[in-house]
Amino acid sequence: MDKPLSVNRFRYHFSIARLVFWTCIFLGLILLFFFHSPHSSSSSSTSDSAPRRILADPDWESRVIKSGKPRSRAGGLRVLVTGAAGFVGTHVCATLRRRGDGVVGLDNFNAYYDPALKQARRSLLERADVFVVKGDINNPTLLSKLFELVQFTHVMHLAAQAGVRYAMKNPSSYVHSNIAGFVNLLEVCKSANPQPAIVWASSSSVYGLNTKVPFSEKDRTDKPSSLYAATKKAGEEIAHTYNHIYGLSITGLRFFTVYGPWGRPDMAYFFFTKDILKGKPITIFEGPDHFSVARDFTYIDDIVKGCLGALDTAKKSTGSGGVKKGPAQLRVFNLGNTSPVPVSKLVNILEKLLKVKAKKIVLPMPANGDVLFTHANISLAQRELGYKPTTDLQTGLKKFVRWYLNFYTRTGKTSNV
Ligand SMILES: NC(=O)c1ccc[n+]([C@@H]2O[C@H](COP(=O)([O-])OP(=O)(O)OC[C@H]3O[C@@H](n4cnc5c(N)ncnc54)[C@H](O)[C@@H]3O)[C@@H](O)[C@H]2O)c1
Repeated sequence: MDKPLSVNRFRYHFSIARLVFWTCIFLGLILLFFFHSPHSSSSSSTSDSAPRRILADPDWESRVIKSGKPRSRAGGLRVLVTGAAGFVGTHVCATLRRRGDGVVGLDNFNAYYDPALKQARRSLLERADVFVVKGDINNPTLLSKLFELVQFTHVMHLAAQAGVRYAMKNPSSYVHSNIAGFVNLLEVCKSANPQPAIVWASSSSVYGLNTKVPFSEKDRTDKPSSLYAATKKAGEEIAHTYNHIYGLSITGLRFFTVYGPWGRPDMAYFFFTKDILKGKPITIFEGPDHFSVARDFTYIDDIVKGCLGALDTAKKSTGSGGVKKGPAQLRVFNLGNTSPVPVSKLVNILEKLLKVKAKKIVLPMPANGDVLFTHANISLAQRELGYKPTTDLQTGLKKFVRWYLNFYTRTGKTSNV
């Protein structure tokens, strides 16, 4: 009689133990899920992958509101700057804030080039009283929240996957940022009430294989030579559509090879500097019949003046809440320097400034999407934006080299391109 009872008791204890065991496993799995889920990522309280948590954070909200408020300047703008931790974005944000405008930055801090450089630019902007939100332009919840917190008068859209050659390695990143991201941003802008005016960065690369120089806004732009160029050209067509259907005021700026302090490590002037200093050989490409590759190098301060000129002359959008009320402004401008310089001359200037002789390898230009030369006609921007570049390559590179040596000596790092 005792035996079955003890067997039953054993069975009872065994099933309780089993129940406790599986409950622990289950709870463990739930905890594991939460700790590893991107929503609980500790990367940043402003991560785009944690919108719900950020969007309910009063401290985050008050930083956005404070940053978006114009300081002292009557009629100051309230500008959302996308790509704010990027090269051009950092300079534009700092200049707008300095003159008293409200500025909120947005950037996803992707690793296309050294994110530490982007973080350093963010710290610079923090000291200038500009808050840079970490997030992706493809995140509609985040964008709508920003528009709810600040009634932006303008959007300066600089976020993009830049670089011509990288498009052969990672084409989808160009579609993600330059097409899907741009459409998402325009969707949020068109639904905003009031709608902001938009100024955005297109590129000289839309002139593609054109041979007529200097490049004018009236020239055809239907022969892009890289996927990067094709996405910028697509952006210009998408801008036309949103202007036409929703009354958004949109200005596209075709930048020509921008350079200067806090620049982009993937650009030739930057990695030539790094390699010359390290004693590494640099490759200079040339066209057929030893044609010298040339660029219309444009100094960052001149580009910033062009961006501000475009923001200040942008007319208001005419729609509201997604409905067009009348025709709206649609513009495209070249922002270049109008004096193309052969890449070999760029190297000569760098050699003198760095006091180091470069080890040069000259090779025929591969078919990687690069074009042989760029040269801007800027008369339209001169007339309508008051744009007047004033920095020649020698002067601009001197400022870049001074920044480079100071930045990489101070941080004790070398640039990771
Ligand atoms: N620098 C030039 O010579 C040049 C020439 C022509 C056009 N442009 C255009 O000007 C703009 C600014 O260029 P830059 O030189 O400052 O480049 P950059 O790469 O330094 O800046 C772009 C910033 O956008 C961010 N970004 C990219 N995708 C994003 C996304 N989906 N969401 C949020 N942020 C994102 C990046 O993290 C980066 O910080 C870009 O649109 C670029 O295509 C630049």
